[in-house]
Amino acid sequence: MKVLLISSSMRRNSNSEYLAAMCAEAIRKEGIEAELVSLAGLDIRFCIGCLSCHKTLQCVIKDDVSEIMEKVKEADALVFATPLYFFELSGLLKTFLDRMNPLYAQEYSFRKVYMIATAADGEDGIFDRAYSGLGGWVDCYPEAELSGRLCVGGVTAPGETKNESHEMMAAEFGRKIAEQIR
Ligand SMILES: Cc1cc2nc3c(=O)[nH]c(=O)nc-3n(C[C@H](O)[C@H](O)[C@H](O)COP(=O)(O)O)c2cc1C
Repeated sequence: MKVLLISSSMRRNSNSEYLAAMCAEAIRKEGIEAELVSLAGLDIRFCIGCLSCHKTLQCVIKDDVSEIMEKVKEADALVFATPLYFFELSGLLKTFLDRMNPLYAQEYSFRKVYMIATAADGEDGIFDRAYSGLGGWVDCYPEAELSGRLCVGGVTAPGETKNESHEMMAAEFGRKIAEQIR
């Protein structure tokens, strides 16, 4: 059993990545393997829409995506961490999700998909569009289901989730994931 967490913030001391790290730690404490991969600084190019992957099951673009795609394919659960950008997933995460198109026609292990998101605003509902966007991706993988989210508003500057209350929220989310996938 393995959970893959993918962080898609480009900045150092990222709020969403810290929550993902705390979540991963909690999952490991439950005896389940968890790996956190950050997309920051990697060579991740846009999908060019050639659709050759439907025939070859491979992407024509040779960059850092292929290695992570193997991890996505093998994981039992996926957790995508993102900053909220204009009420949506980060562009980096969307770009990465588009590049998962070669998996579309393959066997994959993931059955549950989760979102961790952070935002400056704190109002109810601000994360719904991002969650729904991720849901659109999950809908294309019929064996998988969108299974929950941890959304933290009111955090703007880097490092603002590094405190006990947010750590507790992330740990609780990690325990919930472990319980659901066991
Ligand atoms: C381009 C951009 C767009 C953003 N859009 C929103 C937004 O729509 N709503 C919001 O509340 N915060 C928005 N923010 C603030 C970030 O979501 C917030 O700072 C978040 O904590 C960043 O997470 P990170 O540290 O993991 O990158 C935006 C920030 C940037 C840079």
